[in-house]
Amino acid sequence: MNSSIFDAVQFKAHFPALKNQADHYLDNAATTQKPLTVIEAISRYYQTGVGNAHRGSHRYSREATDIIEQCRQRTAAFIQAESAKNIVFTQSCTAALNTLARGISEQLQAGDEIILSVLEHHANLLPWQDAAKRKGLILKFLPVNNGELDIASLDDLITDRTRVLSLSACSNTLGCSPDLQAVRKRLPQSCLFVVDAAQYIAHSPVNVEALGCDFLCFSAHKMYGPEGLGVLYGKHTLLDNLPPLLSGGGMIQHVDLEESRYLEAPHRFEAGSPATAAIAGFHAALDFFAQWPQDSIKQHKQALCRYAHQGLQQFHQIKLFSHAHNPAGIVCFSLQEQELNIELADFLDRHGIAIRQGHHCTQPLLQSMKQSSLLRASIAPYNTQEDIDALLRACDAFLKSQEQLRQTAPNSPTKKELNPQRAKVISGKMGWQQRQKQLILWGKEIAIKAEIRKERYLIPGCESALWLHAKRRNGYWHFRHDSDARLIRGVAALILSWVDGRSTSEIHAFDFAQAIEELQLENYLSPSRSNGIHSLINYLRNLP
Ligand code: ALA
Repeated sequence: MNSSIFDAVQFKAHFPALKNQADHYLDNAATTQKPLTVIEAISRYYQTGVGNAHRGSHRYSREATDIIEQCRQRTAAFIQAESAKNIVFTQSCTAALNTLARGISEQLQAGDEIILSVLEHHANLLPWQDAAKRKGLILKFLPVNNGELDIASLDDLITDRTRVLSLSACSNTLGCSPDLQAVRKRLPQSCLFVVDAAQYIAHSPVNVEALGCDFLCFSAHKMYGPEGLGVLYGKHTLLDNLPPLLSGGGMIQHVDLEESRYLEAPHRFEAGSPATAAIAGFHAALDFFAQWPQDSIKQHKQALCRYAHQGLQQFHQIKLFSHAHNPAGIVCFSLQEQELNIELADFLDRHGIAIRQGHHCTQPLLQSMKQSSLLRASIAPYNTQEDIDALLRACDAFLKSQEQLRQTAPNSPTKKELNPQRAKVISGKMGWQQRQKQLILWGKEIAIKAEIRKERYLIPGCESALWLHAKRRNGYWHFRHDSDARLIRGVAALILSWVDGRSTSEIHAFDFAQAIEELQLENYLSPSRSNGIHSLINYLRNLP
């Protein structure tokens, strides 16, 4: 791989969380680590005395107000907005999109049309779905072809009822990025153009004037800033005519018991006490960002992204979904055997490699690609070739271990092995790997059951689907289950073996926590895995 002039190691040294060389953080599309200057700015604000901005004449309040208003100006300059009045601070990019969907739709009529795309993150889909239901609006969707948004289809979707186009500037799942200026050119002037730049902002310079967008939003935490802060940019006249989503203190001009008048934008959108610490941290993040040569950073990320794609292409068991050349450094892939994705993510985690697995909050996109889950490594400037090599090495080791498992799979265990006594064979003395192997074998044993792979049997869990059919006969419960992940099938089989054939009161009395501890299953049950096993146990605890 050609090294670029950007010094990633020097860059990385600014991030205290990345000190451990054995860790490889490759989930930057979900959130980025924070440089020391950001952490210090937040700490400084708390250490020098907090105040509630715009609400007091004393020093503390004045200083908090300054922090916010200076950052507003800095943010306006960062995206080349006309003035600080165009910048609203929100709780998140999601909150900004909700503000827009609610506010804009208030002014629309039933039958008006909104265009989105199939690849939108749920944050740029659900708020519009809600608006469409509330107001009788029609949603239309730009398709995705060969991993790219099909912009040409816009011409077929636009009618004289098109009022809004809301698009991701960059897909969080595939990394593809439409030519936004070309998109704007295809839109009638009367159509509002909303850009969700959450995934774009850390990777490409944004000039809202040049883009010709009416609104644009992003979050601070994906560009080294703190969590809990989003930015909503809007043209000033549009913002001033938009009803705010939240009302309350800090956004009013005058309040009577029956009626109130609101402030002008941006403050009319900032009800409640502001997130001053996060804003202080965000200002530091913007300053940090500005210190680095963005062109060289881009080359560095692209070289790593290419390298990762080339490396993964060598594995015939892996299918790539992203294009090597994408602005956000996204490497999106799946094992040909999709149900093993969660196992690979788990394996990588145990080797210190953090990537995201699951539906990436883009379920419609995954459905359109007939994928139940995807794996995504996402690259930031602090990543180096070592991170990618570690990923490739671990993928190789995982695939070899699967091959070995296939060859050495003993006589398939039968379901009757899954009784509580036999389950203890996987307890304490066994190594983690052996235990995992046993669970996987059980998972293999559980038959795929098309008849229960239905919405109504789904146990909600974020990363993999788990379906449960529970039936009570003569006072005793009997369970059948399935999952799109083999490991989850195995873990669920074990858990269900504890309670199958028991009465409701026996199941309620069963000490799941103790059983889990005895069998050292915590690894499979940490809430962060969101794998549905927690929900399964809750479901069992609440059986009627
Ligand atoms: N939108 C974030 C992601 O893609 C959470 O992971």
